[in-house]
Amino acid sequence: MELDRRVFLTTGAALATGSLAAMRAFAAPRDPEPLRMGFIGVGSRGMGLLQLALGMPGIRVAAVCDIDPGRVRAAQDLVESADQARPAAYGATPRAYRQLLARDDVEAVLIATPMQLHATMAVDALHAGKHVLSEVAAAVTLDECWDLVHAVRETGRTYMLAENVCYYRQNMTVLEMLRQGLFGPLTYAECGYVHDCRFLLYGPDGKLTWRGELARRCSGNWYPTHSLGPVAQWMGINVTDRLERLVSFSTRSVGAAHYAREALGLSEEAIGDGFIGDSNTCLIQTESGALIDLRYDVASLRPVLSTTYFALQGERASYEDRNGLRVHVEGRSGHEQWEAMDAYLEEFPHPLWSRWHDVADASGHGGADFYAIQEFVDCVREGRPSPIDVVDAATWSSIIPLSAESVRLGGAPVEVPDFRA
Ligand SMILES: NC(=O)c1ccc[n+]([C@@H]2O[C@H](COP(=O)([O-])OP(=O)(O)OC[C@H]3O[C@@H](n4cnc5c(N)ncnc54)[C@H](O)[C@@H]3O)[C@@H](O)[C@H]2O)c1
Repeated sequence: MELDRRVFLTTGAALATGSLAAMRAFAAPRDPEPLRMGFIGVGSRGMGLLQLALGMPGIRVAAVCDIDPGRVRAAQDLVESADQARPAAYGATPRAYRQLLARDDVEAVLIATPMQLHATMAVDALHAGKHVLSEVAAAVTLDECWDLVHAVRETGRTYMLAENVCYYRQNMTVLEMLRQGLFGPLTYAECGYVHDCRFLLYGPDGKLTWRGELARRCSGNWYPTHSLGPVAQWMGINVTDRLERLVSFSTRSVGAAHYAREALGLSEEAIGDGFIGDSNTCLIQTESGALIDLRYDVASLRPVLSTTYFALQGERASYEDRNGLRVHVEGRSGHEQWEAMDAYLEEFPHPLWSRWHDVADASGHGGADFYAIQEFVDCVREGRPSPIDVVDAATWSSIIPLSAESVRLGGAPVEVPDFRA
């Protein structure tokens, strides 16, 4: 049985109020033809996703695009080595992706360019009649968020944000537990992306990379979707609840400049004004009265155990993953006892995990990358709604400009737009 997006996301609380009636199977016949895709941006991430896609029978790669000619050739070679025809190549100029979009044999594109380019490229792709799978984040300004929403409405094409952390097995299991009512109404979530990425802020030439440029410019949280995405799905954001307002604070910055000085030997002149803030926290209030504590830090020294972390509080259950995956469920767990998640992973498998884990497990991020691509292909082919649609993409990505605005205002509350409007 296929699940539509609202059912995939609906929380246990919503089910208790009868929205199960909304469940309906999409019976569209499977199109036997593979989806013909173009890959825009075949750097580190794009190449990894290309490799994964080449192992999936539902995809044919018609064209690739990157402004780095070496990357384009490597991508073409990779496609050929997977026994597909050598794809058309583009990238002579930063706008050459539009030539790829003009091709009739490209039905959909995967965009894995620097984040600052995603929204413009996605809007152009939608208007060219292509379906879009976009890497995170979807956009970096509020105008871009709205442009995306309008472009999807105007064109009727499928847009999906490739937020792979939503497809981690434990995160899908929590979603399933919510759907089966184990948590009751939710009040609080804590989540963060805390990952020492300083090595990605500068290139080998000592110049700032696109990530470095973002870190230099944005004083808020510029990588919110990995952590906010699963929480938003758990809380039914844009389904039964919505993000209403946030406050945001950032620390001063010491980590990135220290790294540039010590690890890269850059002069004070080359480092310049440095970065704006190392660590950022947002407190986001939802319309129903729940609170999300969202943290972000890519510029501080720390070993990487996990790049993301989560905790979730409901009326009848509590979950957290920072000290191993553990849960406490009223009526099931011993008094004052955390339980390891192992038994729950087995007992509450998400339907997607049950369906695909045999093939997904071997792929990137514990299978999560596979689910994101497979879901996109299936949605397009079956004509069902995107599970991480443009409204979610805009809402989650809007944290980038909104957090920066709140920091600029000294931590004053700022409203989160309702992108469903
Ligand atoms: N979901 C995840 O787990 C995950 C992991 C890593 C990166 N990402 C996302 O993937 C995206 C790419 O990250 P990356 O690490 O591969 O970066 P990268 O710098 O390695 O790759 C970006 C590529 O885009 C190309 N490019 C730049 N401008 C272009 C243009 N105008 N037209 C065509 N190509 C252009 C660059 O030449 C480069 O090859 C980012 O948005 C990042 O946030 C997501």
